[in-house]
Amino acid sequence: MTSSTDPLVLFMPSGKRGRFPVGTPVLDAARSLGVYVESVCGGRATCGRCQVEVQEGSFAKHKIVSSNAHISARGAKEERYDRVRGLPENRRLSCSATIQGDLVIDVPQDTVVNAQVVRKSAIDRIIERNPAVQLCYVEVDEPDMHKPLGDLDRLKVMLDKDWGWDNLLVSQYLIPQVQGILRKGNWGVTAAIHRDLEASRPNIIALWPGLHNEAYGIACDIGSTTIAMHLVSLLSGRIVASSGMQNPQIRFGEDLMSRVSYVMMNPDGRAQLTKAVRDAVTELTRKVCAEGGVDPNNVLDAVIVGNPIMHHLFLGIDPTELGQAPFALAVSGSVHTWASDLGLGINTGARIYMLPCIAGHVGADAAGATLSEGPHRQDRMMLLVDVGTNAEIVLGNRERIVAASSPTGPAFEGAEISAGQRAAPGAIERVRIDPATLEPRFKIIGSDLWSNEPGFDADAERLGITGICGSAIIEVVAEMYLAGIISEDGVIDGALAARSPRIRQTGRTHSYLLHHGKQEISVTQNDVRAIQLAKSALYAGVKLLMEKLGVDHVDTIALAGAFGSFIDPKYAMVLGLIPDCDLAEVKAVGNAAGTGALMALLNRDYRREIEQTVQRIEKIETALEPRFQQHFVNAMALPNKVDAFPHLAQAVTLPVRSTTVDATTGDSTPRRRSREERDARRNRS
Ligand code: FES
Repeated sequence: MTSSTDPLVLFMPSGKRGRFPVGTPVLDAARSLGVYVESVCGGRATCGRCQVEVQEGSFAKHKIVSSNAHISARGAKEERYDRVRGLPENRRLSCSATIQGDLVIDVPQDTVVNAQVVRKSAIDRIIERNPAVQLCYVEVDEPDMHKPLGDLDRLKVMLDKDWGWDNLLVSQYLIPQVQGILRKGNWGVTAAIHRDLEASRPNIIALWPGLHNEAYGIACDIGSTTIAMHLVSLLSGRIVASSGMQNPQIRFGEDLMSRVSYVMMNPDGRAQLTKAVRDAVTELTRKVCAEGGVDPNNVLDAVIVGNPIMHHLFLGIDPTELGQAPFALAVSGSVHTWASDLGLGINTGARIYMLPCIAGHVGADAAGATLSEGPHRQDRMMLLVDVGTNAEIVLGNRERIVAASSPTGPAFEGAEISAGQRAAPGAIERVRIDPATLEPRFKIIGSDLWSNEPGFDADAERLGITGICGSAIIEVVAEMYLAGIISEDGVIDGALAARSPRIRQTGRTHSYLLHHGKQEISVTQNDVRAIQLAKSALYAGVKLLMEKLGVDHVDTIALAGAFGSFIDPKYAMVLGLIPDCDLAEVKAVGNAAGTGALMALLNRDYRREIEQTVQRIEKIETALEPRFQQHFVNAMALPNKVDAFPHLAQAVTLPVRSTTVDATTGDSTPRRRSREERDARRNRS
């Protein structure tokens, strides 16, 4: 029973608060408010995981004056811990320290006891912890001839008594090992307990002699091109290592559909693709563990996301059904399974959780990105786009959410582009074109200088100028449009050859010479077409979703994926790849799918959140929507045949428009003029 005169305690960063009688251990107060504070030793003051800090000062907003005088003085247990393991002066063990007055308590996110090499977090957000795996130290009674209860049974009794775990399951592989581990630990052991769903039975998945203080998890995004992984401490929430590697399935086909075809045409195709992706995830796990100095045996939980085809192949499911209508998923809900069944080289008892898939073409990766960016948590209309060979699009707010995928193809990744290449040193990554002279300047990866700045030539000599990477392809086509080199229909204006030697005839079309050196780098008419087709597919998908929700604009745009991180939102909008929006509201969110996986790894509440959200996301199959074609045709123009871009027009001087009648809709809409037309008009007036 608490009273209104009891001390008030506020926990940060969660902001949860409550009143507790004087003498309550801080750890108990945290637990009763649902604030996650780690504890492995069960309050014996030996694990050091429960560390907190008192914030000194007057917190007017919360009406709390917090002081170290309001917490009990360091007791014998804390002094002992300090002597053995070291406890910073401002830190307290919350299992021992008790509340004596009003307090603001900070639960640090870096309770690193075993001084791992910790990297700066790749994710700039605090994820409150509530992992599915918990380490619990217990001291088990020694065997007694008069009480013939088995060793494992007495272990279960203590886990219930000290930690409240009843009805425990035990992973089969552990049963033959229990006796040895108990004796090795002199009857003190640490059990790893896994419980994800509140209603499910908890499971002993690992057991160590003595106090074991390390538990890790991996969050993995299996992309069709790249596999990305974080290794994170489940006890502190810190990312210990992050790494990525190419998906080796690429050798079976660049894009997803060619991999499905491979499965269809080869009797052991599915098995080969499954083996390739599992071997890669195993290899990447080994790599992040080596980088973080972590024994793979201490990895106890894994959360995996991926597009539907990667998801199915990883699980060993034949993806053939996903290659044709009605694009039936074998399993759409979340999957709980065992790492040992998939052979990932981590602890034998480790678990795997896979986020649910949204639809046949919108996978667990889109679910992860949704969880990360949270359109369902806000009032504003958010567009979330993960640009890859298959763009996944989610649109909505807390009221309603819709999702679709669009077949953009690999053009945005530099494939299908004559001088396209992956992002690597020497690739052109930024482009500007002077509208008066049509002369370009550019930057290459590996150099901070523009090509017209002193010192650039030396950098270029060192790095080479090798091609155009995906982000620059967007920029160069947009700049060509802004400079009047291409018309709104995407046609390179051959008449400009008279003004600039950079416009050159190549067969029946023209190209623009971006760089003339050891290697000539040009943008051809086919390149522009490939970009137009890719961006039209994406934009048409977005339009279908906007129509579905009955909205004519979006409030905010999140561009996910590696590509989204490098493109300049302004140029993406000039091309009409994304709809008009305040440019300040367009942000690159990096590997949002991976961040979503990390959130679900560190806090199982997020698993429930995304499971519920996915159920209410309305799925749209772009291929079956009759309006897709019309939107696609309109989107072939730059930025668009019919849609206005008022925010963009404020930020960029767009080529002047004239009014014309749209042939298909009959709408009276503005038409843009080429620089040629504008020049001619200026000369006439
Ligand atoms: Fe282990 Fe406090 S819970 S030291």
